[in-house]
Amino acid sequence: MFPISIKFGASLEECGHLLKVARELGVEVIGVSFHVGSNSSDPHCFSESIANARGVFDLGADLGHEMTLLDIGGGFPGSDDFIVTFEEIAKVINQSLEVHFPAETGVNIIAEPGRYYVASAFTLAVNIIGKKCLPWNKDTFRECAKSVKYYINDGGFGSFSDIFHCHFTQKAVPYKQSVGQPLYSSSVWGPTCTAEDLLFNHAQLPELQVGDWLIFENMGAYTVSLSTHFNGFSIPRVHFCISSKIW
Ligand SMILES: Cc1ncc(COP(=O)(O)O)c(C=O)c1O
Repeated sequence: MFPISIKFGASLEECGHLLKVARELGVEVIGVSFHVGSNSSDPHCFSESIANARGVFDLGADLGHEMTLLDIGGGFPGSDDFIVTFEEIAKVINQSLEVHFPAETGVNIIAEPGRYYVASAFTLAVNIIGKKCLPWNKDTFRECAKSVKYYINDGGFGSFSDIFHCHFTQKAVPYKQSVGQPLYSSSVWGPTCTAEDLLFNHAQLPELQVGDWLIFENMGAYTVSLSTHFNGFSIPRVHFCISSKIW
């Protein structure tokens, strides 16, 4: 979902050239590192990259490089409700490693999981700071049950920068009990001056009031770390919690 290779890395053709030049300069190349891009939705990106890495190892060996390290990077999901699970990705990776880098090759294999470790560690609680009820559906120009706009105290320039990459997948869950209440087509907006600060367009939410809380799970990766003070809004405070049972 985040194609890192548009900025970094080398094509297979370039790898041949780099290995050759390294050899000429007496630079020791010890392995291959790749990153399929964060939140990868297709496990075959990993198997294809592992197969390509095998090709680079073979090229390196032909040129006299002793390569012993394969770094398969990050890209693993951080929540169980993602399009593909960590286990499904791990299965494809293991099968591919078995084919291209079996244990007897002696190659050390490492990964750099980021999102996988931290996403589920943090839950974001945001506050509704404004509300607008629209009696008309602006798309159909027909009266609808009710369509509501909520403005919250965090947004695309804060913890939700993923919305600008169209990769935001987490659901908003109202904190207050709302079982059995009617749901309304709702849009949820960040607090800043720009109309691009839109988190959801057609979320089905019960009617909420200013001051109510919305909860977003799995918000530990690429969220507060990317927050800005744009428009003077502060960065969310972090509170560390543990249940009394575990404590
Ligand atoms: C070089 C490198 N390694 C690891 C990571 C972590 O990736 P992820 O969070 O997708 O696991 C990143 C993230 O951009 C990265 O640039």
